[in-house]
Amino acid sequence: MDKQIMHAVELAGFGGPQVLQLGQRPLPVAGMGELLIRVAASGINRPDVLQRKGHYAPPPGVSDLPGLEVAGEVVAGDEAAMAEAGISLGDRVCALLAGGGYAEYCVAPVVQCLPVPKGLDDVQAAALPETFFTVWSNVFERGRLQPGETLLIQGGSSGIGVAAIQLAKAWGARVIVTAGSDAKCADCLALGADHAINYRSQDFAEEVQRITEGRGVDVILDMVAGSYVAREVQSLAEEGRLVIIAVQGGIKAEFDAGLVLRRRLVVTGSTLRPRPVDFKGAIAKALRREVWPLIEAGKIKSVIHSSFPAAQAAQAHALMESSQHTGKIVLTW
Ligand SMILES: NC(=O)c1ccc[n+]([C@@H]2O[C@H](COP(=O)([O-])OP(=O)(O)OC[C@H]3O[C@@H](n4cnc5c(N)ncnc54)[C@H](OP(=O)(O)O)[C@@H]3O)[C@@H](O)[C@H]2O)c1
Repeated sequence: MDKQIMHAVELAGFGGPQVLQLGQRPLPVAGMGELLIRVAASGINRPDVLQRKGHYAPPPGVSDLPGLEVAGEVVAGDEAAMAEAGISLGDRVCALLAGGGYAEYCVAPVVQCLPVPKGLDDVQAAALPETFFTVWSNVFERGRLQPGETLLIQGGSSGIGVAAIQLAKAWGARVIVTAGSDAKCADCLALGADHAINYRSQDFAEEVQRITEGRGVDVILDMVAGSYVAREVQSLAEEGRLVIIAVQGGIKAEFDAGLVLRRRLVVTGSTLRPRPVDFKGAIAKALRREVWPLIEAGKIKSVIHSSFPAAQAAQAHALMESSQHTGKIVLTW
């Protein structure tokens, strides 16, 4: 194959998994402050499914190819920016992207790259950036989770959830999760969660009251919203923080605003993809300082459900939508 042409998983339209098709693209070119990665593995995230369906367009100027995270080898780039970041040609890195990760090569801002943690393979490394950046930003920065506090994670077995469980436990917090089956609840407990609620057979708000003896939780990481918000507001302790990162259950919510006043609650949220490079670079620095040592010490794991050759991206997306997985699904090149 011509060196300037690469394979990539393209969207042949918006729709079901079958629109993901292996095609050919010109190699991207690293600009100022960027580097070029020969991709070994590309992580899959639920936002990629939204993009495939036509509900989550890439930010302006970003590749139309899906893919928010990769791991691979640095093969070119802005030498000054790389030198400042301590990155050299040939280094193995994992990177957070705003798009373009489902490809044999991609460009990434240098500041959004982190070294592959020692002891991790490419698949494990590719599964880290999107979830760890998101959890850091939302649970610790927006949610300000403190040691000794209690965190409720809606969707504990998701890619986001398995990162949040481990990070919060490493921080000395108590963790309650919800998940959609007893098997997934068991997976979350095995990862360190203190309590797991099967949201299909139990009411999470009642369970939170029982587990916390009526006090409520300090922080909620919510990827459901909709009808959950009213019960989440009820489930917060005084000064509690609700952080919404997705609206899988709907964008409209009705809740008791009186509780927000009386308990001095914070309702907040964010979405990572459109945020500026500097913002993401600051998170990368914090992760490298606070979290990478824990991964290298084996205290926090990259939880892989399965990996697929990139040509089977459609099967990988179908698996994600079937929601049978715990942890991450990854493509390999
Ligand atoms: N705001 C941001 O910056 C940002 C960044 C990345 C991801 N996200 C969002 O975070 C979510 C997780 O992403 P992911 O890649 O980790 O996806 P994923 O692995 O496919 O996880 C989706 C999760 O949603 C859970 N869920 C769905 N309905 C639920 C309900 N009613 N109650 C509790 N849990 C429910 C599922 O639980 P069961 O399978 O047990 O039903 C599953 O664990 C997605 O919605 C994604 O869009 C947001």
